Amino acid sequence: MSRPRTKVTLAMTADGKISDIERSPTQFSSSSDRAHLEKQTASADGVLFGAGTLRAHGGAAPVSKKSQTSQQQNQSPKPAQIVCSSSANIDPQLRFFRQSIPRWLLTTATGAKAWQAHSDKFERIIVAETASGHIDWIDAFEKLAQLDFQKLAVIGGGKLVASLLAADLIDELWLTVCPLILGGATATTPVEGAGFSPQQARRLELLSVETLEQEVFLHYRLQR
Ligand SMILES: NC(=O)c1ccc[n+]([C@@H]2O[C@H](COP(=O)([O-])OP(=O)(O)OC[C@H]3O[C@@H](n4cnc5c(N)ncnc54)[C@H](OP(=O)(O)O)[C@@H]3O)[C@@H](O)[C@H]2O)c1
Repeated sequence: MSRPRTKVTLAMTADGKISDIERSPTQFSSSSDRAHLEKQTASADGVLFGAGTLRAHGGAAPVSKKSQTSQQQNQSPKPAQIVCSSSANIDPQLRFFRQSIPRWLLTTATGAKAWQAHSDKFERIIVAETASGHIDWIDAFEKLAQLDFQKLAVIGGGKLVASLLAADLIDELWLTVCPLILGGATATTPVEGAGFSPQQARRLELLSVETLEQEVFLHYRLQR
């Protein structure tokens, strides 16, 4: 299968949460981690995130300098900010729709219908659906490859990462461990979904560890 290479980048607490139980939009990582996130997204052709992340934050991650440059040079503006949602039930009043960024939607046929009358909101809508009405990730990634997406930055949240891991579509993972504890049984973790049995666990190879002030930057590759 021809598909983009994918890197997940997430900041998590020392107790393994990527959000508090209220899903507040407050960022808990340092400016170094935010610069790290921006570096990861700047080197990608597309930034993929779940609708839950968009609903929590209201907007996309900071626009990279690379994107601004490519727009100035009149090239295809990248990285495209791709939100995935089966329902496409996204509030059109969100700040996201006022940001000067290339907005894409990855959804089902039903989800796409809901945005037919709002053609100015998304630059492109990709429909990839399984027979059971879920997003078909293999088809979605093949379509992205056909559109010349070679590198994708996946920036969460946990449900999206779980789906991509289950479909074996993740290549690398950056996890920044931040010095705080949020707790909460319902607080989001880097990988949600149904979970994997020990036999099906996704195995990682540690590529690098860097400590910057109080944060630990872990870089993993998925073992295949
Ligand atoms: N610390 C960090 O680095 C970081 C990064 C990102 C997010 N977060 C936090 O994570 C939380 C959001 O994470 P989350 O796990 O709740 O949500 P999420 O993964 O961002 O989004 C979940 C939603 O995305 C769509 N989606 C995801 N996987 C899908 C699939 N396989 N098929 C179809 N649709 C799919 C669905 O949208 P529909 O329901 O619309 O169909 C689903 O409800 C927020 O609190 C956010 O602040 C933290």
